[in-house]
Amino acid sequence: MVGARPQFIKAAPVSEALRSRGIDEILVHTGQHYDDSMSASFFDELRLREPDHHLAVGSGGHGHQTGLMMQRLEPVISAAQPDCTLVYGDTNSTLAGALVAAKLQIPLAHVEAGLRSNDRSMPEELNRVMVDHVSDHLYCPSSVAVRNLAAEGIHSGVHVVGDVMYDVLLRETARLGEVNPVAQRSSVTEGYVLVTIHRPANTDDPQRFREIVAALSALATTGTDVIWPVHPRARRLVEGMRELEAVRTVPPATYRETLALLRDARCVVTDSGGLQKEAFWTGTPCITVRPSTEWTETVDLGWNMLVEADRDAIVHAVGSAQPGHGDRTTYGDGRTADRIADLVKHLAAA
Ligand code: UD1
Repeated sequence: MVGARPQFIKAAPVSEALRSRGIDEILVHTGQHYDDSMSASFFDELRLREPDHHLAVGSGGHGHQTGLMMQRLEPVISAAQPDCTLVYGDTNSTLAGALVAAKLQIPLAHVEAGLRSNDRSMPEELNRVMVDHVSDHLYCPSSVAVRNLAAEGIHSGVHVVGDVMYDVLLRETARLGEVNPVAQRSSVTEGYVLVTIHRPANTDDPQRFREIVAALSALATTGTDVIWPVHPRARRLVEGMRELEAVRTVPPATYRETLALLRDARCVVTDSGGLQKEAFWTGTPCITVRPSTEWTETVDLGWNMLVEADRDAIVHAVGSAQPGHGDRTTYGDGRTADRIADLVKHLAAA
């Protein structure tokens, strides 16, 4: 089951690995993300096959959105009676899929299990905890995730498989070439700061949002190029903001456009989960505007720095951003999808 942008990325290599083993996959899209730039462009670029079911749930409050997904998923899963249900990550689509499968007593596997930021004010953290506790099979990106699960009493069905996003990144980087279309369209070459901000904690808190905008504006008006692909959640806030005149605000980037943007950036300022890892893998220093992260290894290895939503702290972090140190293979070797598909095949045969 997929529904939001990061899940299309995660499902692409797994779907391919399942099919190459002769496993029938029924792909369900909840419709949580529906703009072409948030959904169709990822299916096209990553060659993810068309969903078998599209539930067209769309946006809404957490209860409304998750409830509607559950209501529409139940008959689909009930009729299909799969040997296993796969959910990815930590969005409301993940939670809805997990709850429906668990209540129908369909074996449930969670890809990206065991992550914890320990910040329960984040909807994703609540989703992670709930999904892990109803999952039968927990596919963890790292040994830290296994320890997090053990600390909550979850020991069985746990496997360290690595991170599927690394599989995709390796595959697509090899096809990337030299081009960087978004930077070119923005008349910027390299050494710019790449920005993505979409967490409600940053966009919906006027004080935090003002500080972030002030930091980006300070950077952009003092000689640092800043490129910001704007998530629809922040679109209305950003439109027409005079403080952002010097910042290159652009529509959401495709997956490959994002990789090229990352590759040529001097550093990234973000509150995204996926981008923290993609920056780590591409060797781009990352500044995360959040009090905590679930990707703790990126911080421990010096590639990622957590900063407050504070103008001066962000400007200072950008000025002092440096590459980290040590081994960047902490989230697997790029063959995670094959490992997951082998585990699923074993389940289906059991
Ligand atoms: C969701 C996930 C988040 C993930 C992010 C990736 C949850 C709780 N959050 O956050 O973990 O990092 O996806 O992008 O599941 N909108 C559009 N068009 C779209 C999609 C959304 O305009 O195609 C707008 C709507 O105004 C919507 C808002 O964005 O209300 C937020 O969308 P939603 O899916 O609720 O959450 P995200 O912020 O995208």
